[in-house]
Amino acid sequence: MPEVELRDIMKRFGNVTASSDINLKIADGEYVTILGPSGCGKTTLIRMIAGIIEPTEGKVFIGGKDMEGVPIEERDIGYVFQNIALFPHLTALGNVSYGPIVKDMDRKEAEEVPRRYLELVRLLDRMAMFPNELSGGEQQKVSLARALASGARLLLLDEPLSALDARVRMDLRYELRRITKDLRLTVVHVTHDQEEAMTVSDRIVLMRNGRIVETNTPELLYLQPKDLFTANFIGETNFLEGAVREVLEDRTLVELRDGTVVEARSSQFGSGDAVVLSIRPERVHPASEGLRSVVRNITYMGTYIRIAVETDSEDRVNFDVSTSEDRDYNIGDRVDLIWSKRSGMLYPRPPEGVSEAIKLE
Ligand SMILES: Nc1ncnc2c1ncn2[C@@H]1O[C@H](COP(=O)(O)OP(=O)(O)OP(=O)(O)O)[C@@H](O)[C@H]1O
Ligand SMILES: [Mg+2]
Repeated sequence: MPEVELRDIMKRFGNVTASSDINLKIADGEYVTILGPSGCGKTTLIRMIAGIIEPTEGKVFIGGKDMEGVPIEERDIGYVFQNIALFPHLTALGNVSYGPIVKDMDRKEAEEVPRRYLELVRLLDRMAMFPNELSGGEQQKVSLARALASGARLLLLDEPLSALDARVRMDLRYELRRITKDLRLTVVHVTHDQEEAMTVSDRIVLMRNGRIVETNTPELLYLQPKDLFTANFIGETNFLEGAVREVLEDRTLVELRDGTVVEARSSQFGSGDAVVLSIRPERVHPASEGLRSVVRNITYMGTYIRIAVETDSEDRVNFDVSTSEDRDYNIGDRVDLIWSKRSGMLYPRPPEGVSEAIKLE
Protein backbone atom coordinates (compact mmCIF):
# COMPACT_ATOMS: atom_id res chain seq x y z
CA MET A 1 0.00 0.00 0.00
CA PRO A 2 1.38 3.40 -0.95
CA GLU A 3 2.27 5.22 2.20
CA VAL A 4 5.02 7.75 1.49
CA GLU A 5 7.90 8.70 3.72
CA LEU A 6 10.45 11.44 3.15
CA ARG A 7 13.40 11.11 5.47
CA ASP A 8 15.97 13.88 6.03
CA ILE A 9 15.62 15.16 2.47
CA MET A 10 17.84 17.90 1.13
CA LYS A 11 17.94 18.99 -2.50
CA ARG A 12 20.40 21.38 -4.02
CA PHE A 13 20.52 22.75 -7.57
CA GLY A 14 23.96 24.34 -7.89
CA ASN A 15 23.95 26.87 -5.07
CA VAL A 16 20.13 26.97 -4.70
CA THR A 17 18.86 24.82 -1.84
CA ALA A 18 15.33 23.89 -2.93
CA SER A 19 14.58 21.54 0.02
CA SER A 20 16.09 21.11 3.42
CA ASP A 21 15.30 19.09 6.54
CA ILE A 22 12.24 17.50 4.97
CA ASN A 23 10.76 14.79 7.16
CA LEU A 24 7.24 13.75 6.33
CA LYS A 25 5.09 10.64 6.57
CA ILE A 26 1.94 10.34 4.47
CA ALA A 27 -0.38 7.49 5.43
CA ASP A 28 -1.95 5.07 3.00
CA GLY A 29 -5.21 6.62 1.79
CA GLU A 30 -4.38 10.07 3.11
CA TYR A 31 -5.01 13.26 1.11
CA VAL A 32 -2.14 15.66 1.78
CA THR A 33 -1.55 19.04 0.18
CA ILE A 34 1.82 20.74 -0.06
CA LEU A 35 1.07 24.44 0.28
CA GLY A 36 3.37 27.42 0.10
CA PRO A 37 4.30 30.53 -1.87
CA SER A 38 5.79 30.38 -5.36
CA GLY A 39 9.36 29.09 -5.41
CA CYS A 40 9.23 27.50 -1.92
CA GLY A 41 10.07 24.03 -3.30
CA LYS A 42 6.71 22.28 -3.79
CA THR A 43 7.36 20.96 -7.31
CA THR A 44 10.86 19.88 -6.29
CA LEU A 45 9.39 17.82 -3.45
CA ILE A 46 6.76 16.10 -5.60
CA ARG A 47 9.37 15.39 -8.31
CA MET A 48 11.52 13.60 -5.76
CA ILE A 49 8.54 11.45 -4.74
CA ALA A 50 7.96 10.67 -8.42
CA GLY A 51 11.61 9.87 -9.08
CA ILE A 52 12.04 12.55 -11.76
CA ILE A 53 14.87 13.96 -9.68
CA GLU A 54 16.88 12.35 -6.90
CA PRO A 55 17.46 14.04 -3.53
CA THR A 56 20.96 15.33 -2.84
CA GLU A 57 20.65 13.80 0.62
CA GLY A 58 18.04 11.69 2.36
CA LYS A 59 15.62 9.01 1.23
CA VAL A 60 12.18 8.53 -0.27
CA PHE A 61 10.16 5.45 0.70
CA ILE A 62 6.94 4.35 -1.01
CA GLY A 63 5.06 1.45 0.54
CA GLY A 64 8.00 0.99 2.89
CA LYS A 65 10.45 0.47 0.00
CA ASP A 66 13.54 2.59 -0.52
CA MET A 67 13.05 4.28 -3.91
CA GLU A 68 16.68 5.08 -4.60
CA GLY A 69 17.37 4.27 -8.26
CA VAL A 70 13.73 3.22 -8.94
CA PRO A 71 12.55 4.99 -12.14
CA ILE A 72 9.22 6.83 -12.37
CA GLU A 73 7.54 4.10 -14.45
CA GLU A 74 8.19 1.54 -11.74
CA ARG A 75 6.78 3.66 -8.89
CA ASP A 76 3.12 3.10 -9.82
CA ILE A 77 2.01 6.70 -9.63
CA GLY A 78 -0.48 8.92 -11.46
CA TYR A 79 1.09 12.31 -12.09
CA VAL A 80 -0.41 15.64 -13.12
CA PHE A 81 2.48 17.88 -14.13
CA GLN A 82 2.39 21.60 -13.39
CA ASN A 83 2.98 22.28 -17.11
CA ILE A 84 0.37 19.67 -18.16
CA ALA A 85 2.49 17.63 -20.64
CA LEU A 86 -0.08 15.62 -22.60
CA PHE A 87 1.08 13.36 -25.43
CA PRO A 88 0.65 15.70 -28.41
CA HIS A 89 0.13 12.91 -30.97
CA LEU A 90 -2.76 11.34 -29.03
CA THR A 91 -6.36 12.58 -28.76
CA ALA A 92 -7.94 13.40 -25.38
CA LEU A 93 -9.29 9.84 -25.26
CA GLY A 94 -5.93 8.45 -26.35
CA ASN A 95 -4.20 10.33 -23.55
CA VAL A 96 -6.63 9.16 -20.89
CA SER A 97 -6.50 5.58 -22.22
CA TYR A 98 -2.74 5.46 -22.13
CA GLY A 99 -2.48 4.20 -18.54
CA PRO A 100 -5.16 1.48 -18.58
CA ILE A 101 -3.87 0.10 -21.89
CA VAL A 102 -0.26 -0.19 -20.86
CA LYS A 103 -1.45 -1.73 -17.62
CA ASP A 104 -3.17 -4.58 -19.47
CA MET A 105 -6.72 -4.07 -18.25
CA ASP A 106 -9.25 -6.35 -19.86
CA ARG A 107 -10.61 -4.86 -23.07
CA LYS A 108 -14.01 -3.83 -21.84
CA GLU A 109 -12.58 -2.06 -18.80
CA ALA A 110 -9.90 -0.38 -20.87
CA GLU A 111 -12.65 1.14 -22.99
CA GLU A 112 -14.92 2.10 -20.11
CA VAL A 113 -12.54 3.53 -17.55
CA PRO A 114 -11.10 6.40 -19.66
CA ARG A 115 -14.60 7.46 -20.75
CA ARG A 116 -15.77 7.47 -17.14
CA TYR A 117 -13.01 9.90 -16.16
CA LEU A 118 -13.48 12.09 -19.22
CA GLU A 119 -17.13 12.32 -18.27
CA LEU A 120 -16.15 13.25 -14.74
CA VAL A 121 -14.15 16.24 -16.00
CA ARG A 122 -16.98 16.96 -18.46
CA LEU A 123 -14.95 16.44 -21.60
CA LEU A 124 -16.59 13.42 -23.18
CA ASP A 125 -17.65 15.55 -26.15
CA ARG A 126 -14.01 16.57 -26.75
CA MET A 127 -12.52 13.10 -26.63
CA ALA A 128 -11.44 13.06 -30.28
CA MET A 129 -9.55 16.34 -30.04
CA PHE A 130 -5.77 16.61 -29.93
CA PRO A 131 -4.06 18.64 -27.18
CA ASN A 132 -3.35 21.57 -29.53
CA GLU A 133 -7.10 21.80 -30.21
CA LEU A 134 -7.93 22.04 -26.48
CA SER A 135 -7.81 25.09 -24.24
CA GLY A 136 -5.31 25.19 -21.36
CA GLY A 137 -8.04 24.37 -18.84
CA GLU A 138 -9.32 21.48 -20.97
CA GLN A 139 -5.81 20.08 -21.26
CA GLN A 140 -5.48 20.24 -17.50
CA LYS A 141 -8.72 18.30 -17.10
CA VAL A 142 -7.50 15.63 -19.54
CA SER A 143 -4.29 15.39 -17.57
CA LEU A 144 -6.26 14.89 -14.34
CA ALA A 145 -8.49 12.25 -15.97
CA ARG A 146 -5.36 10.47 -17.26
CA ALA A 147 -3.82 10.37 -13.78
CA LEU A 148 -7.05 8.99 -12.26
CA ALA A 149 -7.50 6.45 -15.06
CA SER A 150 -3.94 5.16 -14.72
CA GLY A 151 -5.11 2.89 -11.92
CA ALA A 152 -2.17 4.00 -9.76
CA ARG A 153 -2.73 3.96 -6.00
CA LEU A 154 -0.61 7.05 -5.46
CA LEU A 155 -1.54 10.34 -7.15
CA LEU A 156 0.89 13.23 -7.39
CA LEU A 157 -0.93 16.37 -8.50
CA ASP A 158 1.08 19.52 -9.16
CA GLU A 159 -1.32 22.49 -9.31
CA PRO A 160 -3.95 20.29 -11.02
CA LEU A 161 -6.68 22.94 -11.02
CA SER A 162 -4.70 26.14 -11.59
CA ALA A 163 -5.79 26.69 -15.21
CA LEU A 164 -9.52 26.32 -14.51
CA ASP A 165 -12.22 28.92 -13.90
CA ALA A 166 -12.99 29.58 -10.24
CA ARG A 167 -16.39 27.91 -10.46
CA VAL A 168 -15.13 24.75 -12.20
CA ARG A 169 -12.18 24.64 -9.86
CA MET A 170 -14.50 24.56 -6.88
CA ASP A 171 -16.63 21.75 -8.35
CA LEU A 172 -13.58 19.68 -9.23
CA ARG A 173 -12.08 20.07 -5.76
CA TYR A 174 -15.03 18.27 -4.25
CA GLU A 175 -15.06 15.64 -7.02
CA LEU A 176 -11.36 15.04 -6.62
CA ARG A 177 -11.67 14.46 -2.91
CA ARG A 178 -14.75 12.27 -3.28
CA ILE A 179 -13.25 10.01 -5.96
CA THR A 180 -9.86 9.62 -4.34
CA LYS A 181 -11.54 8.75 -1.03
CA ASP A 182 -13.89 6.27 -2.78
CA LEU A 183 -10.94 4.60 -4.46
CA ARG A 184 -8.84 4.86 -1.26
CA LEU A 185 -5.96 6.52 -3.11
CA THR A 186 -3.05 8.27 -1.45
CA VAL A 187 -2.81 11.81 -2.80
CA VAL A 188 -0.07 14.42 -2.67
CA HIS A 189 -1.54 17.60 -4.10
CA VAL A 190 0.61 20.69 -4.62
CA THR A 191 -1.01 24.11 -4.56
CA HIS A 192 -0.23 27.71 -3.66
CA ASP A 193 -3.95 28.37 -3.07
CA GLN A 194 -4.73 28.15 0.64
CA GLU A 195 -8.46 27.89 0.09
CA GLU A 196 -7.97 24.91 -2.22
CA ALA A 197 -5.71 23.28 0.38
CA MET A 198 -8.29 23.88 3.14
CA THR A 199 -11.13 22.29 1.19
CA VAL A 200 -9.51 19.11 -0.17
CA SER A 201 -7.01 17.96 2.44
CA ASP A 202 -6.85 15.65 5.38
CA ARG A 203 -3.61 17.39 6.23
CA ILE A 204 -1.73 20.43 4.94
CA VAL A 205 2.04 20.66 4.81
CA LEU A 206 2.95 24.35 4.79
CA MET A 207 6.32 25.17 3.22
CA ARG A 208 8.53 28.21 3.03
CA ASN A 209 12.01 28.56 1.55
CA GLY A 210 12.47 24.83 1.02
CA ARG A 211 11.47 23.92 4.57
CA ILE A 212 8.32 22.61 6.22
CA VAL A 213 6.97 25.31 8.52
CA GLU A 214 4.10 23.33 9.98
CA THR A 215 1.96 20.26 9.24
CA ASN A 216 -1.58 19.84 10.53
CA THR A 217 -5.25 19.39 9.68
CA PRO A 218 -6.83 22.40 7.92
CA GLU A 219 -8.86 23.21 11.01
CA LEU A 220 -5.98 23.21 13.46
CA LEU A 221 -3.72 25.14 11.12
CA TYR A 222 -6.39 27.82 10.99
CA LEU A 223 -7.42 27.82 14.64
CA GLN A 224 -4.07 27.24 16.33
CA PRO A 225 -1.20 28.07 14.01
CA LYS A 226 2.10 27.52 15.81
CA ASP A 227 3.92 30.06 13.71
CA LEU A 228 3.35 33.69 12.65
CA PHE A 229 3.99 32.73 9.03
CA THR A 230 1.19 30.14 9.21
CA ALA A 231 -1.22 32.54 10.89
CA ASN A 232 -0.69 34.96 8.01
CA PHE A 233 -0.62 32.46 5.13
CA ILE A 234 -3.65 30.38 6.13
CA GLY A 235 -6.65 32.71 6.13
CA GLU A 236 -6.31 36.34 7.09
CA THR A 237 -5.27 37.88 10.35
CA ASN A 238 -4.34 41.09 12.16
CA PHE A 239 -1.07 41.44 14.01
CA LEU A 240 -0.67 43.76 16.99
CA GLU A 241 2.70 44.17 18.65
CA GLY A 242 3.00 44.68 22.37
CA ALA A 243 4.33 43.37 25.66
CA VAL A 244 2.73 41.10 28.25
CA ARG A 245 1.43 43.27 31.07
CA GLU A 246 -0.10 40.63 33.30
CA VAL A 247 -0.75 36.89 33.24
CA LEU A 248 -4.07 35.94 34.81
CA GLU A 249 -5.45 32.48 35.31
CA ASP A 250 -7.77 32.51 32.29
CA ARG A 251 -6.19 35.13 30.02
CA THR A 252 -3.16 37.25 29.32
CA LEU A 253 -3.26 41.04 29.22
CA VAL A 254 -1.14 42.62 26.52
CA GLU A 255 -0.16 46.26 26.47
CA LEU A 256 0.04 47.73 22.97
CA ARG A 257 2.49 50.47 21.97
CA ASP A 258 0.17 53.34 22.92
CA GLY A 259 -0.63 51.84 26.31
CA THR A 260 -3.98 50.24 25.39
CA VAL A 261 -4.44 46.93 27.18
CA VAL A 262 -6.08 44.08 25.24
CA GLU A 263 -6.82 40.42 25.92
CA ALA A 264 -5.42 37.17 24.58
CA ARG A 265 -5.87 33.57 25.60
CA SER A 266 -3.72 32.31 28.48
CA SER A 267 -0.21 31.58 27.32
CA GLN A 268 3.29 30.42 28.10
CA PHE A 269 4.50 34.01 28.28
CA GLY A 270 5.57 35.95 31.35
CA SER A 271 5.18 39.59 32.34
CA GLY A 272 7.24 41.92 30.17
CA ASP A 273 7.75 39.49 27.26
CA ALA A 274 7.68 41.10 23.81
CA VAL A 275 4.81 39.51 21.86
CA VAL A 276 2.71 39.68 18.72
CA LEU A 277 -1.02 39.16 19.05
CA SER A 278 -2.79 37.57 16.10
CA ILE A 279 -6.51 38.06 15.78
CA ARG A 280 -8.70 36.99 12.83
CA PRO A 281 -10.94 39.67 11.24
CA GLU A 282 -14.10 37.65 11.91
CA ARG A 283 -13.29 37.58 15.64
CA VAL A 284 -13.11 41.34 16.03
CA HIS A 285 -16.33 43.18 16.92
CA PRO A 286 -17.33 46.79 17.51
CA ALA A 287 -18.26 47.65 21.12
CA SER A 288 -18.95 50.67 23.29
CA GLU A 289 -15.49 50.45 24.80
CA GLY A 290 -12.35 48.72 23.53
CA LEU A 291 -9.38 49.26 21.25
CA ARG A 292 -9.87 52.79 19.95
CA SER A 293 -9.68 53.32 16.20
CA VAL A 294 -10.83 55.26 13.15
CA VAL A 295 -12.44 53.74 10.02
CA ARG A 296 -10.12 54.14 7.00
CA ASN A 297 -11.64 51.90 4.35
CA ILE A 298 -14.87 49.96 3.70
CA THR A 299 -15.15 47.12 1.19
CA TYR A 300 -18.38 45.40 0.26
CA MET A 301 -17.66 41.64 -0.01
CA GLY A 302 -21.16 40.27 -0.65
CA THR A 303 -22.03 38.29 2.46
CA TYR A 304 -20.03 40.59 4.72
CA ILE A 305 -18.44 44.04 4.82
CA ARG A 306 -14.71 44.32 5.43
CA ILE A 307 -13.80 47.36 7.50
CA ALA A 308 -10.21 48.55 7.78
CA VAL A 309 -9.41 50.79 10.73
CA GLU A 310 -6.34 52.51 12.12
CA THR A 311 -5.97 52.21 15.86
CA ASP A 312 -4.73 54.97 18.12
CA SER A 313 -1.46 53.01 18.31
CA GLU A 314 -1.29 53.34 14.47
CA ASP A 315 -1.86 49.65 13.81
CA ARG A 316 -4.04 48.56 10.90
CA VAL A 317 -6.87 46.20 11.83
CA ASN A 318 -9.43 44.58 9.55
CA PHE A 319 -12.74 43.36 10.83
CA ASP A 320 -15.90 42.02 9.24
CA VAL A 321 -19.52 42.87 9.85
CA SER A 322 -22.47 41.04 8.42
CA THR A 323 -24.25 42.75 5.51
CA SER A 324 -27.46 42.31 7.45
CA GLU A 325 -26.25 44.38 10.40
CA ASP A 326 -28.14 47.64 10.99
CA ARG A 327 -25.30 49.93 11.85
CA ASP A 328 -23.83 52.03 9.02
CA TYR A 329 -20.10 52.64 8.81
CA ASN A 330 -18.48 55.64 7.18
CA ILE A 331 -14.88 56.57 6.61
CA GLY A 332 -13.65 58.66 9.52
CA ASP A 333 -16.06 57.13 12.09
CA ARG A 334 -14.60 56.33 15.46
CA VAL A 335 -15.06 52.73 16.52
CA ASP A 336 -13.94 50.71 19.55
CA LEU A 337 -13.04 47.08 18.99
CA ILE A 338 -13.15 44.00 21.20
CA TRP A 339 -12.68 40.24 20.84
CA SER A 340 -13.10 37.29 23.13
CA LYS A 341 -9.97 36.44 25.09
CA ARG A 342 -9.98 32.97 23.50
CA SER A 343 -9.55 34.23 19.97
CA GLY A 344 -6.32 36.22 20.36
CA MET A 345 -3.23 34.06 19.76
CA LEU A 346 0.14 35.13 21.14
CA TYR A 347 3.59 34.66 19.56
CA PRO A 348 7.04 35.78 20.62
CA ARG A 349 7.92 39.01 18.81
CA PRO A 350 10.41 37.97 16.09
CA PRO A 351 13.77 39.77 16.38
CA GLU A 352 13.76 40.40 12.59
CA GLY A 353 10.33 42.12 12.80
CA VAL A 354 6.85 40.89 11.88
CA SER A 355 6.96 41.79 8.19
CA GLU A 356 10.22 39.89 7.69
CA ALA A 357 8.82 36.87 9.58
CA ILE A 358 5.77 36.59 7.33
CA LYS A 359 7.39 37.60 4.03
CA LEU A 360 6.56 35.27 1.13
CA GLU A 361 10.00 35.43 -0.59
N1 LIG B 1 16.20 22.17 -12.28
C1 LIG B 1 16.47 23.24 -11.51
N2 LIG B 1 17.65 23.88 -11.60
C2 LIG B 1 17.93 24.94 -10.81
N3 LIG B 1 17.07 25.45 -9.88
C3 LIG B 1 15.88 24.86 -9.76
C4 LIG B 1 15.50 23.72 -10.56
N4 LIG B 1 14.25 23.36 -10.20
C5 LIG B 1 13.87 24.21 -9.24
N5 LIG B 1 14.84 25.11 -8.96
C6 LIG B 1 14.78 26.19 -7.94
O1 LIG B 1 14.33 25.63 -6.73
C7 LIG B 1 13.42 26.49 -6.07
C8 LIG B 1 12.09 25.77 -5.83
O2 LIG B 1 11.46 25.55 -7.09
P1 LIG B 1 10.08 24.76 -7.20
O3 LIG B 1 9.80 24.59 -8.64
O4 LIG B 1 10.17 23.52 -6.39
O5 LIG B 1 9.08 25.78 -6.52
P2 LIG B 1 7.48 25.73 -6.37
O6 LIG B 1 7.18 25.83 -4.92
O7 LIG B 1 6.94 24.58 -7.11
O8 LIG B 1 7.04 27.11 -7.07
P3 LIG B 1 5.72 27.46 -7.97
O9 LIG B 1 4.58 27.64 -7.00
O10 LIG B 1 6.10 28.75 -8.61
O11 LIG B 1 5.51 26.35 -8.93
C9 LIG B 1 13.30 27.72 -6.95
O12 LIG B 1 14.17 28.69 -6.43
C10 LIG B 1 13.75 27.24 -8.31
O13 LIG B 1 14.33 28.28 -9.07
MG1 LIG C 1 5.73 24.40 -8.78
